[in-house]
Amino acid sequence: MRVIIEKDYQTMSRKAALLVASQVNLKPDSVLGLATGSTPEGMYQELVQMYHRGEIDFSEVITFNLDEYYKLTPDNKESYHYYMQQNLFKHVNLYSENTNIPRGMVENMETECKYYEEKIQRAGGIDLQVLGIGSNGHIGFNEPGDRLNVTTKLVKLTEETIKSNSRFFDSPEEVPRKAVSVGMATILKAERIILLASGRNKAEAIKKTVNGYVDTRVPSSLLQTHPEVTLIIDEEAANLL
Ligand code: F6R
Repeated sequence: MRVIIEKDYQTMSRKAALLVASQVNLKPDSVLGLATGSTPEGMYQELVQMYHRGEIDFSEVITFNLDEYYKLTPDNKESYHYYMQQNLFKHVNLYSENTNIPRGMVENMETECKYYEEKIQRAGGIDLQVLGIGSNGHIGFNEPGDRLNVTTKLVKLTEETIKSNSRFFDSPEEVPRKAVSVGMATILKAERIILLASGRNKAEAIKKTVNGYVDTRVPSSLLQTHPEVTLIIDEEAANLL
C-alpha cells in the first residue's frame, strides 16, 4: 500500500485527477470505477478543467459507480445518478451508454445486482477504482460487520453512515436506510485502486486502513491484501499515521 500525503484538499484532488488522467491517457478505453460523496468532488472539478484544456479525452472510457441509494429516482437531487451528472458526466465527453450506476429503483434487486456484476465482467473488469472512505472504514457501502458481501448487493446502512450522510438531506429521516453497493471482491478485483481521504474525521479510519489488522469490522483494511493500492490523503487525514 502506497501512501501519498498532500498538504490539503485541493492538492489531494489535483493529485488524484492526475492519476486518473494518466490512466486514461495510457489506456483511452479504460474502465473506471467511480465514487461519490464530498471527497471526490474536487477531483471531478479538476478532471473537468483538464478536459476543457484538452488534457483528457473520455470518449472511449467506461465507468461503473460503486453505489446508489435504494429507492431514490435518478432525478432526485440526493441520488448518486444526479450527483454524477452534476459533477462529471454532463461536463465531459463521456457517452451515456458507457456510464453505469446501480439502479436503486428496480423492482427485482437481486437481478439488478447480478446484471451489474456481469456488466463489469463483460467490460473486462475495472482498470482503476477510485474510492472514498467512511469514518467507520466503509468503502462503497460495505459497512463494518462480522461478514462482508463479495459481490453487488442491497445493503443496510449503519446509523453512523445515515447520520453522516444526513448533511446532504433536509433531515436524517429522509436518508435512505438501504443502498445498492458493489461488494468487496468486486472492488478488490480492480487492477489498481486509489483511495482519497481528507480531514481529521477520517484520520482514525486511515490509521486502521494502513496499520491495523485485516478485519471485516474495518472494510478498508482489506485493501492491504491488494497489490496496487495508493492512498491519496491530506495532512489532516494522515494525522494519526
Ligand atoms: C460513495 C461511497 C462512500 C463514500 C464515503 C465517504 O460512492 O462509496 O463509501 O466514499 O461514505 O463519503 P464522503 O466523501 O462524503 O466523506
